[in-house]
Amino acid sequence: MKRTIVLKVNPEKPEAEKIRVAAKIIRRGGLVAFPTETVYGLGADALNPEAVTQIYLAKKRPLDNPIIVHVASENDVYRLAENVPEKARRLMSVFWPGPLTLVLKAKDIVPKATTGGLDTVAVRMPNLRVALALIKESRVPIAAPSANLSGKPSPTTAEHVKQDLYGRIDLILDAGPTEVGVESTVLDLTMDPPQILRPGGVSYEALSEVLGRVELHPTVVADREISLVHARSPGMKHKHYAPKAKVIVVEGEPEAVRRKVQELAEEHRKNGRSVGVLATDENKRFYKANVIKSLGARRDLSSAARNLFKMLREFDEEKVDIIIAESVPIEGLGLAVMNRLRKASGFNIVKAD
Ligand code: TXA
Ligand code: MG
Repeated sequence: MKRTIVLKVNPEKPEAEKIRVAAKIIRRGGLVAFPTETVYGLGADALNPEAVTQIYLAKKRPLDNPIIVHVASENDVYRLAENVPEKARRLMSVFWPGPLTLVLKAKDIVPKATTGGLDTVAVRMPNLRVALALIKESRVPIAAPSANLSGKPSPTTAEHVKQDLYGRIDLILDAGPTEVGVESTVLDLTMDPPQILRPGGVSYEALSEVLGRVELHPTVVADREISLVHARSPGMKHKHYAPKAKVIVVEGEPEAVRRKVQELAEEHRKNGRSVGVLATDENKRFYKANVIKSLGARRDLSSAARNLFKMLREFDEEKVDIIIAESVPIEGLGLAVMNRLRKASGFNIVKAD
């Protein structure tokens, strides 16, 4: 077991001394969990294959799942990637720093440990002072997947990181809960039109406005398991975001969804199960269950994104057997929310009508 240090950092004005401690660990090949605007990441020197290998071990992550490289400036991108298309430049100027990850052709400097053996590299510039200060002070790009055990919901607080990785990593920088709550959008720019491999903090609509045409990889909108022979984003084929409880997602028109959620909750409670309902503010009061939580208002899907992973973890703490979740509209951040919910359910989707 490792000794894991936890340091509280001021998100507005990260203390230079604490950032220096963290950067030193990165430079020595160690592992530092740090906040970004999306979720907490587990960082290591992206150019040091031994350090990156430690990430996979700490997370128990499958070795073929590549890791996003975090940079502190657009210039860093050109050290890591070649043939950077004009569209990538435009996206960086509009959305960076921010929750958009660009998949580009990798230069040889990027170790195969980081790319999971692919010839592409995923890069992003996070929009949080603590993260940017850490990357700058480390003077290397930082490879960082979400700082959870593989398969668990991504961490949106330092407490979540502790639950999963305490004793397995060197340091946790704690700057409070993250703002966006779902991970970055992963966009593949090695093809034209570009393709969204994972929906996230930057919406499809916002990308379309800048790019004109954007495609969605079939898994992004899938409501059933898709078998992938060559997954372009290997993360697609791994089980993901699963809480311990069984998850059922109820989809359809809002009225019908409400009825179906209540019907299912009653049925499972009758069978002696402890039932959690993941609701929205508008419908919360209609339900009877052992635990009821609201993701937020249906008209504010960014709140749903912010709360989702936290609530999946909370339901597990309250030891419910089943989580019955209302669907939210598939628009804006709702696309990312529904993508995560469907995966968390193992595509256990009930259509209400
Ligand atoms: O918001 C985020 O993206 C967070 C924070 C820490 O930045 N990071 C994150 O990393 O969610 P991770 O490893 O949990 O998810 C990265 C996703 C995976 O689905 C992976 O397969 C995909 O990005 N990915 C990474 N490199 C890729 C590449 N070269 N080509 C295609 N997909 C890639
Ligand atoms: Mg992850």
